[in-house]
Amino acid sequence: MSVPGEKTNGSVLATQDLSVWAGDKQILKSVTLEAPDRTLLAVIGPSGCGKTTFLRSLNRMVELSHGLRVDGTVRYLGQDIYDARVDPVLVRRRIGMVFQRPTVFPMSIYENVAFGLRLDRKPEDEVEKSVVGALQRAGLWDEVKDDLDRPALSLSGGQQQRLCIARALAVSPRVLLLDEPTSSLDPAATQKIEGTLQELREEMTIVLVTHNVAQAGRVSDRTAYFYQGRLVEVGPTADLFENPKDPLTEEYLTGRFG
Ligand SMILES: Nc1ncnc2c1ncn2[C@@H]1O[C@H](COP(=O)(O)OP(=O)(O)O)[C@@H](O)[C@H]1O
Ligand SMILES: [Mg+2]
Repeated sequence: MSVPGEKTNGSVLATQDLSVWAGDKQILKSVTLEAPDRTLLAVIGPSGCGKTTFLRSLNRMVELSHGLRVDGTVRYLGQDIYDARVDPVLVRRRIGMVFQRPTVFPMSIYENVAFGLRLDRKPEDEVEKSVVGALQRAGLWDEVKDDLDRPALSLSGGQQQRLCIARALAVSPRVLLLDEPTSSLDPAATQKIEGTLQELREEMTIVLVTHNVAQAGRVSDRTAYFYQGRLVEVGPTADLFENPKDPLTEEYLTGRFG
């Protein structure tokens, strides 16, 4: 998936005039946005503004929704991921995704994390090493290390979500996309996930969709504000929060805090 020698200007993922249509309804309107390396980019905005659609178009998952049409480009390390020669399955491995509700499989904790590695028919010692590493990076290892054979569905909601993060990490993605990963969790479980994200953002590229503005403030380096399918503005999180350039952003943030 990487293109040797191609300039990336430090951005791992970049969209250019990205539009998504459902029939003649335009859901995303010409979004041009970059996700730099080792950065957590938060995407915020009111319900229905296109956050999920944007995230799903970053790894071609949008193609799994019936009837959506994508226009414009998404570049991963300089390469257009919608190019006809690119395998979408490979795209989704390099650019992993975690959903709003934990999508745990009815199998053991260990096998949940090993899932993607099994598809690659990796030798068992390699699988084990990756599983342990992924559970550690997801901040779950200490809680499950003695129970790896337990059914994953016996874990709490917050643990299940960290397990999903571990499963995504196990195949060594370069980018992690998360769609409101804490919206179904209590504050303590949310705090654990935020801690995990704060560590992961040092080592990879993360795009986090959240309707929780305070969460964006706590964990992100940059924040993008979406409204009615458009990118209104993007900037360093502190700047955007303290000094929004667009009245639409200010109105949204004031509504959330004021
Ligand atoms: N598969 C689809 N077909 C038709 N409309 C869709 C589809 N997916 C999303 N939409 C519409 O696109 C808009 C943006 O949705 P979404 O990306 O889920 O927003 P958000 O995540 O910000 O709440 C909404 O009006 C939604 O109804
Ligand atoms: Mg959504």
